[in-house]
Amino acid sequence: MRHFLTLKEYTKEEILEIIDLSLEIKQAQKAKRPHPYLAGQTLAMIFEKSSTRTRVSFETGMFQLGGHALFLSNRDIHLGRGEAVKDTARVISSMSDMVMIRTYEHTKLEEFAAYSHVPVINGLSDSYHPVQLLADYMTMVECGRHENPIVAYIGDGNNMTHSWLMLAAKLGFELRVATPVGYECDPVIVHEALEIAAQSGATLTFTHDPHVAIAGATVVTTDTWISMGQEEEKGQRLEDFKGYMVDETLMQLAHPYAIFLHCLPAYRGIEVSEGVLEGDQSVIFQEAENRLHGQKGLMVWLDRHR
Ligand code: CP
Ligand code: NVA
Repeated sequence: MRHFLTLKEYTKEEILEIIDLSLEIKQAQKAKRPHPYLAGQTLAMIFEKSSTRTRVSFETGMFQLGGHALFLSNRDIHLGRGEAVKDTARVISSMSDMVMIRTYEHTKLEEFAAYSHVPVINGLSDSYHPVQLLADYMTMVECGRHENPIVAYIGDGNNMTHSWLMLAAKLGFELRVATPVGYECDPVIVHEALEIAAQSGATLTFTHDPHVAIAGATVVTTDTWISMGQEEEKGQRLEDFKGYMVDETLMQLAHPYAIFLHCLPAYRGIEVSEGVLEGDQSVIFQEAENRLHGQKGLMVWLDRHR
């Protein structure tokens, strides 16, 4: 049985297998061919944070696969009022076939997974957002930007950045990260990613200059400067991130055929300009839709590997 927590625990071949399966399932869905690979199964979804895309994509995806998804808000289940993670894990996993969790501390996911009888999927933690990267890479494949890409990530060194580091390290491509001073990635995760990159041939570079990161990039991406749980730091962060907005001027430095990705939700005029978000290079809504297809591929893959 496999869990899907960080991408770190997956080989390049396995990640590409999940992407291929997702593309195949997307085609079936578009052609209205039934694909009830998870008929009769249930996915329990625990949300300790807000969500638009993750909830809708998992719930809809499970239905399209012939299964059922349960939305369990932290406010409604006993986990939110102190029931032990290890007890919740054993109870929920004794009644469902897969579990998705969106939480704060990544260690909570690890503890849940350690006690779970069924595969556990990370639907976002403070450290990683691996299901988003399935959709992002799938979008790169569909746009023909997956062969030797140069990816520039500009913004906060957060869960999205860490997942980009893992994807690049595993698949062996070039990733340039530009963060303001004081908002760099977690050094432990960077170290792990660099070790994997040394094996795969990936190039991971870190700078405080967005111009350096974006020069010639074929994929440009960013994320909110204020992640869920950081709302109180908003004023300071807006000050510290000045000069990091991905706008038309910065995009001029990227490769002319570069695509723009954003996991969403996006904040116009803050981390990205309206012009870039709505411009010709932006594929953000294709990327968002691919959350559905990517996670269907993942759930079917996990079911086939138990
Ligand atoms: N990108 C993403 O995970 O979106 P939600 O927070 O809306 O689920
Ligand atoms: N970094 C953001 C991603 C939201 C999908 C957050 O954690 O809030």
